[in-house]
Amino acid sequence: MYADNKVRRNTVRDITKLKGERPVVSLTAYTAPMAAQLDQYVDFLLVGDSLAMVLYGMESTIGVSLDTMIEHTKAVMRGAQKAMVILDMPFGSFEQSKEQAFENASRALRETGCAAVKLEGGAAMAETIQFLVERNVPVMAHIGLRPQAVHVMGGYRTQGKNQEERAQMIEDAFAIQKAGAFSVVLEGVAEPLAAEITEKLDITTIGIGASPDCDGQILVVEDMLGYFPSNAKFVKRYAEVGQAIDQAVKQYADDVKSRIFPAPEHTYHAKK
Ligand code: KIV
Repeated sequence: MYADNKVRRNTVRDITKLKGERPVVSLTAYTAPMAAQLDQYVDFLLVGDSLAMVLYGMESTIGVSLDTMIEHTKAVMRGAQKAMVILDMPFGSFEQSKEQAFENASRALRETGCAAVKLEGGAAMAETIQFLVERNVPVMAHIGLRPQAVHVMGGYRTQGKNQEERAQMIEDAFAIQKAGAFSVVLEGVAEPLAAEITEKLDITTIGIGASPDCDGQILVVEDMLGYFPSNAKFVKRYAEVGQAIDQAVKQYADDVKSRIFPAPEHTYHAKK
């Protein structure tokens, strides 16, 4: 089921050369079985710090540690053979100094075998991004709605709705590109800003709640599979997995209580 190293894994170059050719397809993954299932359909998988909320039931992404991100990235690397894998640098693991960022990002690459890291931040992180890239750590940046900045942003608000935010985001985008990031996630960005940034930049933009004109799209896989009740505008639900699980588990509970399960075909018998 898991990686046997016979398939060539996508590289940063495979992703960046898709700009202008076709949209990049990506999803989050946190576990080996999910990564194995998504692998043939996506160009890259992001081990997002959203796992804090999706897997661990935390209120925000702030509380997840680098150790946790590393363990989940190892699992995703075991599950996916073809997709490039990116580790999302968690809050507190890169902001203090460029040296801290390199120590933690290089550890992430060394211990997991993933190809790149993602980090939240624009112009303020440009020096750090350049420091990492010059030391062979490929970086995907993340601007617009930055979940790790929820407390300073005053909630999860769509960005780019006024002139000040638009000017800041364009400055951020150019600073990131100049610093050497190969790609940037644009999250929660009101149109037409994400389309404009995509057109202006040479690097690959990946949208989530941004624009259909981004160079690629990403969603949290549990959101698009309909795992949780949600009416988020930017999510298209391609399945209702949460409901399917609910029905299955209810049926199991009823079967156990009424002794329908296990049936004779599920029961081992000693030889006569
Ligand atoms: O943590 C995450 O899952 C993300 C993406 C959705 C972009 O940052």
